[in-house]
Amino acid sequence: MKAKSNNNIKKIIENLVRKHNTPLFLISKNKLLSQLKRFQTLLPRVKPFYAVKSNSHPFILKTFADAGIGFDVASIQEMKTLLDMGVAPDRMIFANTVKTPEALKFAASNKIDLMTFDNEYELNKIARYAPGARVLVRIKVPNVGSMVELSLKFGAEPPDAIPFLIKAIRLGLKPVGVSFHVGSQNTHIENYLDALEISSIIFKDAQLKKIPLEILDIGGGFPIKHFDYEKDLFAQTAGSINKELNRLFPENIQIIAEPGRVLCGPAGILVMRVIGKSIRNNKHWYYLDDGVYGSLSGIVYDHCKYQYKVLKKGVTQITTLAGPTCDSFDIISTSEELPELDIGDIVYVENIGAYSWATATNFNGLPPAKVVIIP
Ligand SMILES: Cc1ncc(COP(=O)(O)O)c(C=O)c1O
Repeated sequence: MKAKSNNNIKKIIENLVRKHNTPLFLISKNKLLSQLKRFQTLLPRVKPFYAVKSNSHPFILKTFADAGIGFDVASIQEMKTLLDMGVAPDRMIFANTVKTPEALKFAASNKIDLMTFDNEYELNKIARYAPGARVLVRIKVPNVGSMVELSLKFGAEPPDAIPFLIKAIRLGLKPVGVSFHVGSQNTHIENYLDALEISSIIFKDAQLKKIPLEILDIGGGFPIKHFDYEKDLFAQTAGSINKELNRLFPENIQIIAEPGRVLCGPAGILVMRVIGKSIRNNKHWYYLDDGVYGSLSGIVYDHCKYQYKVLKKGVTQITTLAGPTCDSFDIISTSEELPELDIGDIVYVENIGAYSWATATNFNGLPPAKVVIIP
């Protein structure tokens, strides 16, 4: 079965390269929809708000907009794009914990009134530029072993949550809940369990203080497979989350999430070609037409490692893959086990839909890979 689907992908790639050349960034519509379906099936209580930052390609946004889900937005541009697509303001959460005054004013004037914060300065800013907004306090939770540790930069200490919510009331805001993020590509299920336990204590405290909280935002972080040999942990993670949600949060509490990677990651395939070859220190080096300044920027910003596949078969050897720019930082990997390649041969990466195309640059005058939508 696996071999058959690999052969299919190879055929698709060969045809598309003939038509469009490389580098290509393929986005699979069916995969976007099946990931969304999987999310909704495995986490039936959780309403997804797609994290636009993970991949803001208009096709992805339109697909999820048509599917009727919500969006986690981080900037004026993201809000504007969605509003222009006809997404209603109540389908958005402004979940960038630190927001510019201009973005707050934009949100307020467009009725996007649900947002997160994690400190008093931010609360004052929200009260000034988006008066009356509904706020969720983002708390710091364990991010043990996550690929991107977000609690480094964001999250109030949990004991500060209630005082902050009280301060929100004093400022004329509406405190509605708690949010957290366990870190992106979180493979430690315990991080979610701890975060849910901590959040439930805050919900109980809030009830005692007569602050009626109604929304728990469990953030993103849901893991995907980047390598064929990895275990798919999403189903197991979701199962544990469900159990804890039902144990700790009564049915009247609305549960939302901000999934990025798990929805768009598996839908992306990057297709590159070998544009140069050399032997350096007895090792084959292959220079590809995309690299760390392009769609492989996730190596830097997402701390991600990828599985590089080729269409060619043959005896493998340890090789180096490098990108197309003049910078020696643009080295993709120094230890890939690959058959000998020639100029023009294809190298591709699956499950690269998140934090890749979104952070690609034009460095060296090389534009980001061409996006092609596939079924
Ligand atoms: C506030 C916020 N929500 C959601 C996400 C999406 O996380 P993930 O792609 O791990 O699901 C991120 C990622 O950086 C984030 O910062």
